[in-house]
Amino acid sequence: MSQPPVSPATAPLARDTVRSLRASRIREVANAGIGLPDVLPFWFGESDQVTPAFIRDAASQALASGATFYTHNLGIPPLRAALAGYVSRLHGDTPVGNVAVTSAGVNALMLAAQLVTGPGDRVVAVTPLWPNLVEIPRILGATVETVTLDYGPHGWALDVDKLLAALTPGTRAVMINSPNNPTGWVMPRAAQQAVFDHCQRHGIWIIADEVYERLYYGPEGSIAPSFLDIAPRDARVIAVNSFSKAWLMTGWRLGWMVLPAALMDDLGKLVEYNTSCAPSFVQEAGVAAVTEGEAFTQDLVLRLRGARDHLVGALSALPGVDAHAPEGAMYVFFKLAGATDSLALCKQLVREAHLGLAPGSAFGDEGEGFVRWCYACDVERLDEGVRRLSAFLKTGA
Ligand SMILES: Cc1ncc(COP(=O)(O)O)c(C=O)c1O
Repeated sequence: MSQPPVSPATAPLARDTVRSLRASRIREVANAGIGLPDVLPFWFGESDQVTPAFIRDAASQALASGATFYTHNLGIPPLRAALAGYVSRLHGDTPVGNVAVTSAGVNALMLAAQLVTGPGDRVVAVTPLWPNLVEIPRILGATVETVTLDYGPHGWALDVDKLLAALTPGTRAVMINSPNNPTGWVMPRAAQQAVFDHCQRHGIWIIADEVYERLYYGPEGSIAPSFLDIAPRDARVIAVNSFSKAWLMTGWRLGWMVLPAALMDDLGKLVEYNTSCAPSFVQEAGVAAVTEGEAFTQDLVLRLRGARDHLVGALSALPGVDAHAPEGAMYVFFKLAGATDSLALCKQLVREAHLGLAPGSAFGDEGEGFVRWCYACDVERLDEGVRRLSAFLKTGA
């Protein structure tokens, strides 16, 4: 039986805004490697180590004791209290009423955007940037303009005046990720202060993605400058954070946000309609991470610092590579001579050298010519990756 023609109005398609979103180019490269044996994956932002045992044990115990029910939209009281204590210790007094638990950082970003942006709003984002921060406001119908970090002899830097000029009155929000994925750039305190003052004057929301705040290579034991250090808790600042990076909990999907208490009731409604709550036994594990995980995190940062220095040294010895040691996060974002199409290059690298890297263009047009390498693994694996890259470059492929 012949089917009636499908009219554009009734075609079973997602709405235009969704169809126009850019698919992840990191995924595209990873898909090109599926089924290949022995691929060394440095493309995603996660460690090759499992979550520490004391956190996994806490989740097992919570499951065994029946933590299988819905929880409060904003999180279980012990976790909110533990997070309020943790954030207060790092950034100054932060009452429980300013803290909400989320289903990881990406959900916190979506909730933050849903709280303060909508169709037609103008949002500014500092790039290169992990693509979710740019695409999330677009899903909601906002227009996103980008302000690019500048690449120079010392790596990536922000021209603060350029950003302030882009934050025109009427701009709804600015998305800033520091320490930054992919560049490792860390926003200096003075720049944060200038942007904060400007945004307060013009009523612009700051959505600060600080999921890498603990992965910072300043003086030992220090953490990256945070907007929470300078902003009163009732200012227009929403800080987003995650358990994924500091406690190696990527697969658990647990995060949090710090925001003005006046937004909490509305946030509760949004959580209800997005996820209703984070999984209860995962939240119990989160309490263990926050209250018992400090030594683990400090040791992790030490190991990452060693891996960073090792990888930058090894890459810098290769011809055509321009690599700088990042100040934060866990990626070396290096320039590769001749990599004019980083997506094609990374697909070729995975197919021919079995080396999995993320193309710079995945993080915005200004990332073209660069390649991102996650170094959260042991140095033997990094060495084998560099050996494969070196052999690939030598064959002139
Ligand atoms: C800059 C940035 N923000 C947020 C996230 C979200 O992480 P998660 O959803 O695992 O908490 C990531 C993950 O890689 C990231 O790189």
